Amino acid sequence: AEIHYHEFVVQAKPVKRLCRTHNTITVNGQFPGPTLEVRDGDTLIIKAINNARYNVTLHWHGIHQLRNPWADGPEFVTQCPIRPGQSYTYRFTIENQEGTLWWHAHSRWMRATVYGALIIYPRLGVPYPFPMPKKEIPILLGEWWDRNPMDVQKLAIFTGAAPNVSDAYTINGQPGDLYRCSSKETVRFPVESGETILLRVINSAMNQELFFGVANHKLTVVGVDSSYTKPFTTSVIMIGPGQTTNVLLKADQPPGRYYMAAHAYNSANAPFDNTTTTAILEYKSAPCNAKKGKSSTPIFPQLPGFNDTATATAYTAQVKSPTQVEVPTVIDHNLFFTVGLGLNNCSNPNSPRCQGPNGTRFAASINNVSFVFPRTNSLMQAYYQGQPGVFTTDFPPVPPVQFDYTGNVSRGLWQPSKGTKLYKLKYGSTVQIVLQDTSIVTVEDHPMHLHGYEFYVVGMGFGNFNPSRDTAKFNLIDPPKRNTIGTPPGGWVAIRFVANNPGIWLMHCHIDSHLTWGLAMSFLVENGVGKLQTVQPPPLDLPRC
Ligand code: C2O
Repeated sequence: AEIHYHEFVVQAKPVKRLCRTHNTITVNGQFPGPTLEVRDGDTLIIKAINNARYNVTLHWHGIHQLRNPWADGPEFVTQCPIRPGQSYTYRFTIENQEGTLWWHAHSRWMRATVYGALIIYPRLGVPYPFPMPKKEIPILLGEWWDRNPMDVQKLAIFTGAAPNVSDAYTINGQPGDLYRCSSKETVRFPVESGETILLRVINSAMNQELFFGVANHKLTVVGVDSSYTKPFTTSVIMIGPGQTTNVLLKADQPPGRYYMAAHAYNSANAPFDNTTTTAILEYKSAPCNAKKGKSSTPIFPQLPGFNDTATATAYTAQVKSPTQVEVPTVIDHNLFFTVGLGLNNCSNPNSPRCQGPNGTRFAASINNVSFVFPRTNSLMQAYYQGQPGVFTTDFPPVPPVQFDYTGNVSRGLWQPSKGTKLYKLKYGSTVQIVLQDTSIVTVEDHPMHLHGYEFYVVGMGFGNFNPSRDTAKFNLIDPPKRNTIGTPPGGWVAIRFVANNPGIWLMHCHIDSHLTWGLAMSFLVENGVGKLQTVQPPPLDLPRC
C-alpha cells in the first residue's frame, strides 16, 4: 500500500463562466479541484491550507474513516472549521473500499466550487469484476452560480426564503454548448471506435438530482458509490447529489460526435433550473463537415422529462449488489424518521427575515427537529473532552406525531422545532431506518447521506410506510450498498447497517438548501457507556473553535 501526500490550498481564483469572470474559491487554483487516485489499502495525507477569506473544512464523501472521525470533516460535527490563514492535515486509510467517491468542502455552501473526484482502484493485482475498460473518465456533474454561492446561501438564511437556483449545470466545471459564452470550452472526450470506457459519474450539484445520458449509446451500470453492482444496461441514469455511478460505455456507433447531457430530475413543483449541460463524446475518426473542416453538430440524447418519477424509480429499482450479501436480520434499533420541509411562522410576517410563503420562514427537519450546528465547539470535541451542554442525546426514534404523509396534514405539523440532538447507537448494534418523505410544503426526493457508514437499501415505496405490509417485501438477498439514497417523493426508503464505527456521524439531506434549513441529525456511536475507547486520539493540529 502507498502513502499519498497532497497539499490542498483553498484559495480564490478568477474563473470565467457564462461570459463573466468571478473570484471563485478553488483548491490549488483548480476548478473542479484535483482528482485523487488511490488504491484500496492506501493512506492519504492531505494538508488543507486555508488561504481563502472563509472558514473551510474538507469531507471525503463515502470514506468510512473507521475509528477516525477526526478526518471526516463536516464543520462543527467532527471538527471546528479551519480559519483563514490556518491549516489542518487530514490523514486516513482506505479500508476495503473500491469505486468512485469524491471530496468536497463541508462548510456553508463552499462545496459549490470546492470539490473533486476520489477514485479508489482495487488493490494491486486485483481485477475489476468486469472486462478492463480501455480508459476511465471522471464525470463531475455540478452547478454554477453567477453570484457567489456563499452569498446565495447567506441571503436565503437571512430572508428565510428559498435560495436562488443556479445559473447553469456543468460537466467537469463547464456548462457546455447550450449556455451563453460556453461552447469554446465544452468538454470533449475522444474515443476510438470499438473501445469500452468507464465513466465515473459523480453528482456534485448542490441542490439537484439529475438525469444523465449519452446520445445513441447504452450505459452498463457496474457500480454505485464505493460498491459494485449487478450489471444492467440503460439509456439513462438518475443520480442524486452525493451519489456516484460507474457505467461502461462501448463506442459501437458510427464514428461521429455525440452529446452526453444532464438535466434536472425534479419531482416537486419547486423552482428549478430547466437547462441542460453537455459535453461531447468524439470519435477520433469522426467526419468533418465539408465546409473548412468544421466539426459536425453532435447528436443529442433523449433524456426523460423533468418530472418523470416513473423512469427515475424504475431505474433505481434495478440497482442491486452483484451477489448475495449479509444484511442484518435481527434489528436492535428500529428507527422511523420523517424527512421533509416545513414553514415556521414569524411573529412579524412583514419582517425582511420572513420572505417564505405567506410571511413564513422555510425550515426542514427529521422527526420535526431542525438540526442546529453548534458554534462554540464541534460535537466530537465536546464529547471527547466531556463538555456537557453542546448537544443533547434525545433525538426521537419516531416522529412526535404520526400523521398521513401523503399530503393531508394540518398546519400545526409544519413547524419544526430547533435542536442539536443526537441519537445514541450502541456500538455493534444493528440498525434499521425507514426514511419517510412528509410531503409537507412539497413532495420531494431527499437524497439522504450517512457519514462514516455504508448501508444496505432493503426497501422503497410510495405512500405511507406500512411495517406489516412492506417489511415482508424487503430485499434481504442482494440489496445495493450505498452511502447516499433518495427518499422517493411522497414515499419511503428503508436502510440497514451495523453500527460498527464509533464516533459522531452526521446524517443529512445532500440537497444543500435542505441542509441549510436543518434537514440533518447526528448519531453518537459509543463503545461502552459514555466512551469512545477505540477512537484514535484527536490530531494535535485539530482546529479549535
Ligand atoms: Cu457529501 Cu455531509 O456530505
